[in-house]
Amino acid sequence: MTFEFENKIRWAAYVTAATVAFVYPLSTSFSSDANPDEFKKQFEELISDGLEKATKSTTDTGAAMGHVPTEIGELFAYLKEGKYKDFPVSDKETYKSRGPHAKFGRPVRVFFDAAIAKSLSMEGTTHAAGSSVVKEMFKKDGTTLDGWAVMTKTRENSDKGKGWFWSEIILTDAEPKIVAAGNGVRLCSGCHSRGKDFVLSKLPK
Ligand code: HEC
Repeated sequence: MTFEFENKIRWAAYVTAATVAFVYPLSTSFSSDANPDEFKKQFEELISDGLEKATKSTTDTGAAMGHVPTEIGELFAYLKEGKYKDFPVSDKETYKSRGPHAKFGRPVRVFFDAAIAKSLSMEGTTHAAGSSVVKEMFKKDGTTLDGWAVMTKTRENSDKGKGWFWSEIILTDAEPKIVAAGNGVRLCSGCHSRGKDFVLSKLPK
């Protein structure tokens, strides 16, 4: 009798621990259901033949579409002016990135334009050409801006990431460092392909 009772307690403890371990990470304000380790593994695979190859754009950018520039100089000016801060939906606070933005675990904050905010709120849709998401990336202190990652959909068809303009700009004391700028950047689209039409974040509640 005592033995059985102890066993039950032990099982209850296991089940509770397992539930906390699985459910807690998914219940945070983060996006898709993959955990940070899966993103890390994927990142290593994507850069296995060099960062330079992985961040090359595969196709011409094509005509700029939408309201966020896809010419990198204009985009940088747009970002510095903080124009995306007018987007209707954004995370209220920063949170730790599960992706390599700008390093794993660094604070980030996402801004969703009206088109993406609408399509993300609907089931099973793709995003409209011309729509954009801007992500602010911060240094460890959580308040010093480190740069931006931007996705702008330039074609109706995402076409394995070629229909998106991917860019990541890191601020430095001198010229900004352009990590990526172009359509079909494999590093970005490879990891983002598990999102909803390439967008990994969910709308903030
Ligand atoms: C190894 C995975 C990984 C790679 C590589 C990656 N990202 Fe992300 N990205 C994420 C994750 C995870 C999020 C969700 C928010 C977070 O945790 O930072 C995200 C969020 C974003 C967002 C906000 C919209 C969204 O989809 O949630 C943008 C914009 C973005 N990434 C751009 C880029 C660009 C540009 C590149 C290539 C230079 C890139 N990402 C490469 C994992 C990745």
